Amino acid sequence: MRVLSGIQSSGKLHLGNYLGAMKQHIELQHGHECFFFIANYHSLTTIQDAKLVREYTHDVALDYLALGLDPAKCNLFRQSDVPEVTELAWILSTVTGKGLLDRAHSFKDKVAKGITPTMGLFAYPVLMAADILIYRSDLVPVGKDQVQHIEMTQDMATHFNQTYGREVLKRPEPKVNEALVVPGVDGQKMSKSYGNAINLFDPPKETRKRIMSIKTDSTPVEAPKNPDACNVFALYKLMAAPDEVEALRQRYVKGGMGYGEAKTLLADAIERLLGPARERRFKLAADPDCVEDILAAAGKRARAVAREVMADVRDACGIITARGTHR
Ligand code: TRP
Repeated sequence: MRVLSGIQSSGKLHLGNYLGAMKQHIELQHGHECFFFIANYHSLTTIQDAKLVREYTHDVALDYLALGLDPAKCNLFRQSDVPEVTELAWILSTVTGKGLLDRAHSFKDKVAKGITPTMGLFAYPVLMAADILIYRSDLVPVGKDQVQHIEMTQDMATHFNQTYGREVLKRPEPKVNEALVVPGVDGQKMSKSYGNAINLFDPPKETRKRIMSIKTDSTPVEAPKNPDACNVFALYKLMAAPDEVEALRQRYVKGGMGYGEAKTLLADAIERLLGPARERRFKLAADPDCVEDILAAAGKRARAVAREVMADVRDACGIITARGTHR
């Protein structure tokens, strides 16, 4: 079973990214062959500043490694270290109806948010399909918002195979955590673009301040409170152990506890995850060569797989390249 996922490097990662995607990536490295890559080609659709693109790419690597991705157990690499994906994206675009891309929600959402509708932004799902298909991936763990892209990937694989009468590309399956909703400090879904995120690696003081700013209602301290209507509790449920969650639930129901106290408990629970990760991140950040070696080695392994698949793809569609250059 080959697991693959991509992480866009378009800014600081937050708790929603961790709970929605990174956590399951880190768990899947045990018992599966995993390919995780930093989608730096994709990031060019929103960031056009070389320094920032480089910086964010490195930051994602640091974040993942700090939070527990083990380079001995999985492949963490840069998308651009396998430039063949851009070639596959082109080939896929020739078997993909424009109508399929016209139906993409994420393109419309991004344009509505003010992102420039370039060809790259429009073709984003085609590059994403190439990312997945070039490694003959079986399973793609993603957040709910990406499921449509995986369905498009399945369609593209089928179209390619039908067009050329061969089973060259493998249809992948998405893996989604349906039940998961991570609220931001304002109660809406946590998202960088809503400005309501709790970032993973801000200075600890800032993180605590951010947690203290979570919106709550004005129920007085003495009164009983409804845990299931509270953003603080919703986040605590995602961070703490079941017995801790039950204990806090009791305190809500009983009354006599202010929201400030619940927020402190939440901040402590978040710090239990981030404290040790911050230490590891600090050490890794001091050794950029080590991180570079990890990415480069995994990129080589990934590229070897991609080259095999591309040889079959080119053969299927009649693209001839100089002998020996591509295997
Ligand atoms: N579009 C994904 C996101 O925004 C990132 C991504 C790029 C990806 N290529 C991928 C995810 C391939 C899974 C598989 O989260």
